[in-house]
Amino acid sequence: MIRQAIIPLAGLGTRLLPLTSVYAKELLPINGKVGLEYILDECIEAGIKEIILIISNRKKIIQKYFYNDLFFKKIIKAKKDQRILNEYKKIKKYKKMIKFVFQNEPKGTGDAVLKTRNKIKDNYFLMILPDDLIIKKNCSKDMILIHNKMNCSVMASMKVNKKTVNRWGIYSKKKQINKSNFYIKDVVEKPNIKSAPSNNAVIGRYILPKKIFKKLQKQTKGKGGEIHITDSIRKLIKDGEEFVGHTFKGKYLDCGSMEGYIKSSIEIAIK
Ligand code: UTP
Repeated sequence: MIRQAIIPLAGLGTRLLPLTSVYAKELLPINGKVGLEYILDECIEAGIKEIILIISNRKKIIQKYFYNDLFFKKIIKAKKDQRILNEYKKIKKYKKMIKFVFQNEPKGTGDAVLKTRNKIKDNYFLMILPDDLIIKKNCSKDMILIHNKMNCSVMASMKVNKKTVNRWGIYSKKKQINKSNFYIKDVVEKPNIKSAPSNNAVIGRYILPKKIFKKLQKQTKGKGGEIHITDSIRKLIKDGEEFVGHTFKGKYLDCGSMEGYIKSSIEIAIK
C-alpha cells in the first residue's frame, strides 16, 4: 500500500525568473488555482494519507501558505463569505496531511529525497516533481494500481519527439508488458539523438522503494555537479530491483519553464 508521498520543492526555479526571485513557483496560479494544489489533489484522489514537502529557508512562504489560519479567521469573521470559508476549509484539510522537511542547499533531487529518510514508514512511497503537471487522468492513482498488482517500483513515461531526446531522461526498455507498461532496463540522462535507446522519457512521478535511501547516502555528484535521484535508481536497477515504466494517459504540462507555465493555464482553461 502506498500511503506517503514526497514532493521536492527546494529548487531555485531559475527558469521562471523573475517570477521566482521572491516567490515560490509552486504557489504561482495556474488558471486561478495554486500550482501545488493540483499536485496535492492528485495525491488525495490517489489515496495518499501523508504528504512530505521538501522546502528550504528561502521557500518558507510555502509553509506559511498552509499555516495562515489567523488571517483567514479574521476575514471570515468580518466578511462571512462562503467562497473564502470553503477555501479555508480546503487549506486546513491539506495542512492536516502535510509535513515539512528542509533542504537548505539545492544539491539536487537525490539530496532532496534523502532529507525524508526518517519520515518514510512503508517499503514504497510516491514521489512527485511538482513542475510536471498531468491533467485529465490521475497518473499517481494509475501507478499505484500497477504497484499494487506487481509489487515493484514504477516510473511515469511519455513518448517524446525523437529529435528532443537529448533534453530528457530516456528509458532503455527490457520488455513490453502490455500497451502502457514495460520493464525498465536502464535510464540514461540526456542521451544524444543517435544513441538514444528509445523515445520514452522520464516524467516526474515515481513509486520508489525505501531501499533507495541506502544508495542515496553514498550517491556522488553527477551531471551538472548535482546529486540526481536517477543515478541512485540506476544502481537499484543494476542490483536487480524491478522498475516498471508506465506510459500515462493524461496530458503533460511542463510548468517549470516560462513557455510551459504560460501555456498550462490556457490548457487547463480549455480542458
Ligand atoms: P529542477 O531542477 O527541474 O527545478 O528540479 P528547479 O531547480 O526548481 O528550477 P530551475 O531548473 O532552476 O528552473 C525538479 C524539482 O526538484 C526540486 C525542485 O524544486 C523541482 O520541484 N529540487 C531540485 C529540490 O527540491 N532540490 C534540489 O536540490 C533540486
